[in-house]
Amino acid sequence: MAKDTLAILDNRTGKSYELPITDGAIRATDLRQIRTGPDDFGLLSYDPAFMNTASTRSAITFIDGDAGILHYRGYPIEQLAEHASFLEVAYLLIFGELPTARALEDWTWQITHHTWVHENVKTFMDGFHHDAHTMSMLISSVAALSTFYPDAKVNHDPGHQDLQIYRLIAKVPTLAAFAYRHRLGQFYVYPDNDLSYTGNFLSMLFKATELKYKPQPAVERALEVLFILHADHEQNCSTNAMRSVGSSGVDPYSAVAAAAAALYGPLHGGANEAVLRMLRAIGSISRIPDFVKSVKAGEGKLMGFGHRVYKNYDPRARIIKRMADEVFAVTRPSPLLPVALELERIALADEYFVSRKLYPNVDFYSGLIYEALGLPVEMFPVLFAIPRTAGWLAQWKEMVGDAEQKIARPRQIYTGPGQRDFVPLGRRA
Ligand code: CMC
Repeated sequence: MAKDTLAILDNRTGKSYELPITDGAIRATDLRQIRTGPDDFGLLSYDPAFMNTASTRSAITFIDGDAGILHYRGYPIEQLAEHASFLEVAYLLIFGELPTARALEDWTWQITHHTWVHENVKTFMDGFHHDAHTMSMLISSVAALSTFYPDAKVNHDPGHQDLQIYRLIAKVPTLAAFAYRHRLGQFYVYPDNDLSYTGNFLSMLFKATELKYKPQPAVERALEVLFILHADHEQNCSTNAMRSVGSSGVDPYSAVAAAAAALYGPLHGGANEAVLRMLRAIGSISRIPDFVKSVKAGEGKLMGFGHRVYKNYDPRARIIKRMADEVFAVTRPSPLLPVALELERIALADEYFVSRKLYPNVDFYSGLIYEALGLPVEMFPVLFAIPRTAGWLAQWKEMVGDAEQKIARPRQIYTGPGQRDFVPLGRRA
């Protein structure tokens, strides 16, 4: 009968080993028994960029990259995007179940009543240069939140953890909107507790002299859906940063700042910004073939295409593409949409992209919607970070409660020189 084990023969020693296989994985530490002698540390697995290493067992998000499937806690992303609110989804990610009506009311109240930030936040926000990138301002100001909550180091009391979760989910949009208005040189708009999570965010971004800001329902819902689609994506670069930094026991404000910094990169959450810059640079349909040729020649990437996990159409991109029409019906249509559609059509028919299984990812169309909402490209990664804060916190809470997790500390294969004696400055070649 087939056994769930892996038989290994070490040709260096002639010894054989049998390692258990659980859930399709061997434990890397089981390799340590494979040694050539008492001084040998034991066999390591070498995996730069974590191409084939599971760092955790997680019950939060499921992705089948070949089939283009994404579930949060078992619920298909399509159903959540159609029926749920962002706060319901955030609750689902963090606590594992959809909230009851009572739980949702309490959760919404908690988030709504933690949106204010200390008045001193405005002082350090004012210290940023007038054209500072909004994502840098968000990263820095989230890190600075930890100065207001010095008791927030890892604490295993769920009530204490939940308080930091309320604060972060509530305050990140406030900081994001302050950063946006600082760049414009405009006064900061305080949170409005009568509005929804996304409605309040739109108010903090766009409120002018009117007494009460009224978000357009289609725009509010579009943002809600975009937030749902971006809320979590299992063990990506920023989530790994959240878990890794959080594993040191630091407060979650510092860990979220680290995760947001990881998200900022153009290969991750900065890709939506890069997509829009790319579409603007292409400018017209007639220039697409030359652009695609340059990508194939290795002169740059087709931003918004490709994914480490999806080797099929990203299900989030499909939902965003459908939603774009609804948004453009109430805003002005994006002049770049025809360029994006034609670029996608050409790429999906091109052998280079087909053979590498490169499909549009979540970032390919999201930027066009953000642009239609009147937001500058510098806000795009910020709009990714706001909802992803819920995912980061869900992953952090799971990690903190996981008895198997310890401080994250990868091994290395040392390739530097052996021991040598110090050379005084005057004798160095
Ligand atoms: N344009 C052109 N070629 C590409 C692209 C692209 N966007 N993505 C991958 N390739 C090529 C790559 O050059 C390589 O070719 P070859 O085998 O000839 O060397 C092959 O496809 C495999 O790519 P890879 O770099 O080994 O794949 P990866 O899993 O390390 O990278 C990725 C994944 C998302 C970083 C990459 O596809 C990429 O840089 N895409 C553009 C940036 C982007 O849109 N990022 C957003 C990701 S979704 C949002 C998020 O979760 O952060």
